[in-house]
Amino acid sequence: TAENGLNAWLRYAPLQNVNSHHLTLPSTIIALNTSKASSVYTAGLELQKGLQGIFSQVVKISNYTHKTSSALIVGTVDDYSKIYGDGDDAPDLDEDGFWLNTKGDTIKILGQNERGALYGAFEYLSMLAQGDFSGISSVNNPNQPIRWVNQWDNMDGSIERGYGGPSLFFKNGGIVDDLTRVSEYGRLLASIRVNGIIINNVNANATLLSPQNIQGLGRIADVFRPYGIQVGISLNFASPTAVGGLTTFDPLDSGVISFWTNITDQIYKRIPDFAGYLVKANSEGQPGPLTYNRTLAEGANMFAKILDPYSGVVMFRAFVYNQLNESDWKADRANAAVQFFEPLDGKFADNVVVQIKYGPIDFQVREPVSPLFANLRNTSTAVELQVAQEYLGQQCHLVYLAPLWKTILDFDLRVDRKASKVSDIISRERFNRPLGGSAAVVNAGTNTTWLGSHMAMSNLYAYGRLAWDPSDEPEDILQDWIRLTFGLDPKVRDTITKMSMQSWPAYEQYSGNLGLQTLTDITGNHFGPKPQSQDDNGWGQWTRADHTTIGMDRTVANGTGFSGTYPPEIANMYENIATTPDNLLLWFHHVNYTHVLHSGKTVIQYFYDAHYSGAEIEQTFVKMWESLKGKIDDERYEHVLYRQTFQAGHSITWRDAINNFYWNLSGIPDEAKRVGHH
Ligand code: GCU
Repeated sequence: TAENGLNAWLRYAPLQNVNSHHLTLPSTIIALNTSKASSVYTAGLELQKGLQGIFSQVVKISNYTHKTSSALIVGTVDDYSKIYGDGDDAPDLDEDGFWLNTKGDTIKILGQNERGALYGAFEYLSMLAQGDFSGISSVNNPNQPIRWVNQWDNMDGSIERGYGGPSLFFKNGGIVDDLTRVSEYGRLLASIRVNGIIINNVNANATLLSPQNIQGLGRIADVFRPYGIQVGISLNFASPTAVGGLTTFDPLDSGVISFWTNITDQIYKRIPDFAGYLVKANSEGQPGPLTYNRTLAEGANMFAKILDPYSGVVMFRAFVYNQLNESDWKADRANAAVQFFEPLDGKFADNVVVQIKYGPIDFQVREPVSPLFANLRNTSTAVELQVAQEYLGQQCHLVYLAPLWKTILDFDLRVDRKASKVSDIISRERFNRPLGGSAAVVNAGTNTTWLGSHMAMSNLYAYGRLAWDPSDEPEDILQDWIRLTFGLDPKVRDTITKMSMQSWPAYEQYSGNLGLQTLTDITGNHFGPKPQSQDDNGWGQWTRADHTTIGMDRTVANGTGFSGTYPPEIANMYENIATTPDNLLLWFHHVNYTHVLHSGKTVIQYFYDAHYSGAEIEQTFVKMWESLKGKIDDERYEHVLYRQTFQAGHSITWRDAINNFYWNLSGIPDEAKRVGHH
């Protein structure tokens, strides 16, 4: 059945060998809000469903708030105090936080708000499903207030960079009638504590703003509301001309302002808890304020002012760049975000958040962290990650991304020579900002695996976990996901852990290493190998490879100056070859193929070797997966095996395409005599 895929990590599979005297099941579930739109009500139902799945027993949900012995109470701290008078010993919680107390006779799951209570219920069920019956009293608060996903769904039902089937939301220009899958998606997202979703493509279509579609949006919001998820949309900046009958979309024009005010009023009338707008402006052909010589901040602030009375926010994307000419040695797309946004620091309204892709280019297999995080001290920021594996195998390759994201979140930018981890910047703490957080581009579709691959779901799961707590370890997160998704067998856990933890390094080795980015077909679909497509075009994802040299010189001394956009300690590290880590060497420096790395190998030999070892690791994944036959239901077993077999073959295609390309270009033989003709 498709159930395992649809339920993903929320299967609540029956526990084998439960040592039942460790746990007395609660006699009743008391949910302190009986309104169906309430997340507390949802929590009650979810607890019932989970206990039934895990222990095969139906625990009734009681409408009476009378505390019986061994009840399980879920609600907000406030309601709990009001009803039971004792206020108990509830700790202080931040917004969306929760307190889970399984120690006493009564199990208490109390949220700072209703959403927090639901998160607590999911947490409790996650423990039980993993066979953890320990008595705990644990306080959980989010690191960041904004924990959103961005779907890039189009009105015709296709999904930009979507590899999991058509849209959950749209079809034929409107909102789908049956929102069952949307509700199931909401359940998954709530369980990883995602609290907002942008449902349409950043390359937005203005027809979403029609009265009929706003009603449809309202239906979607009604479905997400019980899961504590607020809905927002991407806007097309030129909507006033595209659908409003105006002759301008100048953000300072009064007609334009009334157009947007009217739209916003209509939306909030139908959706009082609407989250806000995501805006991609003046980027990749999208319209924006620069057309009218208005600044990006003026564009963002127009929306901010209109949203402010409703407490809505504007997520304004920093992904703004122009096409460049490669014959200019100093041209560098990596410089664009800082060039556009640093001069605007402090000019954005308080309810604007600048949403910054993790690296300066575009979701590559390895990038240094975007220096914009260090350049905006008076602006709220969010990091943009990509669960959609656009440049990372498109869900046909297993690439567990939490370790990649960790290199970004943990990176210390040393602003003013003080600790300045990216996670502490987006959490609001480092620069004391009102807002901040994370957004992940997710391409969940109507495929019953959601993402087109069971294994890719570890990335969605890990995204939510890291947005809540960036200090979590990727391997721990992964193992929770494995137990919840595939069961408690230690061999299953160890095998999938090994495959997943090796997967990003292996992908990097066969797809693009030493900081060269993913050497894919960048002018096409971003999937297979095509190193020759990187250069001789305006996209600025250049390698500058010729017969003897390779790499982008991004130094201040002789190159594009990009390294100088970091605070001094980081700038110095990247400015000098001696202190630049090997894995970013060619991102920052232009060197001979014979340049010797810290590791002692030459650049070209490292290339040859890495492509072989990356592809070799992929071959072992097939065998590892096969060792799990019989330990995983056949349907998921076969599905994953099919994907891994494809990846094993494709990694060889990658290996040979890239190695042959550089062998042809450089003429330098492979010491191990594997590459080229001997
Ligand atoms: C990438 C991606 C596009 C997307 C863009 C964005 O370039 O290939 O499909 O629109 O990023 O993030 O805006």
